Amino acid sequence: MRFQLKKVQKEHYIMSVKFYKSENQVPLEMHKVRVVQKLNLLPVDERLRAIQKAGNNTFLLQNKDIYLDMLTDSGVNAMSDRQTAAMHLADDSYAGSETFNRLKTAMKEVFGTDNVLPAHQGRACENILAERFVKPGMIAIMNFHFTTTKAHVTRCGGEVVEVLHKKGLIPQSDDPFKGDMDLQELRRVIKEYGPEKVAYVRVEAGTNLIGGQPVSLENMLAVADVCHEFGVPSVLDASLLQDNIYFMKTREAQCKYMTPKEIYHLLAGKMDIIYFSARKLGFARGGAIISHNTELIKSMMEYIPLYEGFLTYGGIDVRSIEAMAEGLYESLDMDYLSHGPEFINYLVNELDAYGVPMIKPAGGLGAHIDCQGFVPDMPHDQYPAAAVATALYIAGGIRGMERGTLSEQREADGTERFAELELMRLAMPRRVYTLSQIKYVADRVKWLWDNRQLIGGLKWVEEPQVLRFFFGRLKEIGHWQEELVSKFKEDFGESL
Ligand code: F0G
Repeated sequence: MRFQLKKVQKEHYIMSVKFYKSENQVPLEMHKVRVVQKLNLLPVDERLRAIQKAGNNTFLLQNKDIYLDMLTDSGVNAMSDRQTAAMHLADDSYAGSETFNRLKTAMKEVFGTDNVLPAHQGRACENILAERFVKPGMIAIMNFHFTTTKAHVTRCGGEVVEVLHKKGLIPQSDDPFKGDMDLQELRRVIKEYGPEKVAYVRVEAGTNLIGGQPVSLENMLAVADVCHEFGVPSVLDASLLQDNIYFMKTREAQCKYMTPKEIYHLLAGKMDIIYFSARKLGFARGGAIISHNTELIKSMMEYIPLYEGFLTYGGIDVRSIEAMAEGLYESLDMDYLSHGPEFINYLVNELDAYGVPMIKPAGGLGAHIDCQGFVPDMPHDQYPAAAVATALYIAGGIRGMERGTLSEQREADGTERFAELELMRLAMPRRVYTLSQIKYVADRVKWLWDNRQLIGGLKWVEEPQVLRFFFGRLKEIGHWQEELVSKFKEDFGESL
């Protein structure tokens, strides 16, 4: 499927400023830092104690014990001067606040519609979509699931069916759009279950769990067409759309001369529903559901006062709504859009060149280490990606996140559901870290790669039933973490 190519002039934005000496070429920050937060790098023995006290779960580490927090890019992106200034304008009223009107104006500018329902974050939008559309025995079709999305669908008695193109699960590849749906498979699944059994089809931009991999505009529009043909609602999870738009513009010929705003508008016109976490899209807090279809919006309206708050704040603090509105305007700016993907690309290339198995091509969200390649002999049920995450914290005070078997839910009969990919992600909070800090990350990962034979597995001590990766506690098998600390001291001496 092709879409109409509009003739627009090439924009003037600086994505990679060209350096005089090519060997000096690095991604260049297009912002300056005006507020700072002191960081703490604990000595290696204390890092060992901290991770063991946290049950070998990086979610349970304390921020004071972390040097670089690369757990997520959710709600931890640096706000701009304009965002913090806007927060002072917040109109704090229970109903009918001017702040909400400013959010509607921003939505209209960015998405071309101001039919918006505010919700306190992305998963709150997912809860409302599941309540509204998913009935027992129904399916929700997706390119790939996200943890919270799947939990809401299954809670309502539905099932998630994934139709990711098979290229998406090949760890090292040069395919530019590994998040694309397999359109043939999409049609087959809709026909097999019958359209009336399909609650909705959800495309996740910047597909999180396969390494922040983008979906092409062509594929997104084709999915919307298939949904239209079968009368099934199309949903776009736009939480990671900022990065995805950068990749559309740099990897998809048709998008090169489209402005980000044209892409947002095109998608919002085609998809029945868009929702997002403003902790990612818009560098703020909060979330929202939008649709050009007023009837669809009305059909979800009643859930907002029920679960979130009144329709003009939706459980979000008004100051955050101001920051979100301003952040949405910034999500049209290629200088800001390019920061994450270019820093991630730098880190992925550095590590790839050293031989570290990385998810390729570099995606959005963060750099993802392929842990099946990092510790190939470790069985899935010793949680290789979680083990590598604890090892990297010990090696450098760097907090990453397991995105593998530990992040899955067990099957109904209690057996382990092994993840297709065992990833350890190093998320890139936007506008937060400097390039020297990212170079430090690369250095510590390289050291860990050279000492990977020391890394051992983990076993459960406390395993929660729902979203176990958040609170679960594990123990290292044997004494490999102490051995890693000894090797660190041997190689780094007195250095932190
Ligand atoms: N959809 C996607 C694609 C996400 O990445 C997230 C959150 C959500 C929905 C839920 O949004 O956190 O505001 O409730 N991802 C975070 C992460 C948690 O760290 O990747 P939320």
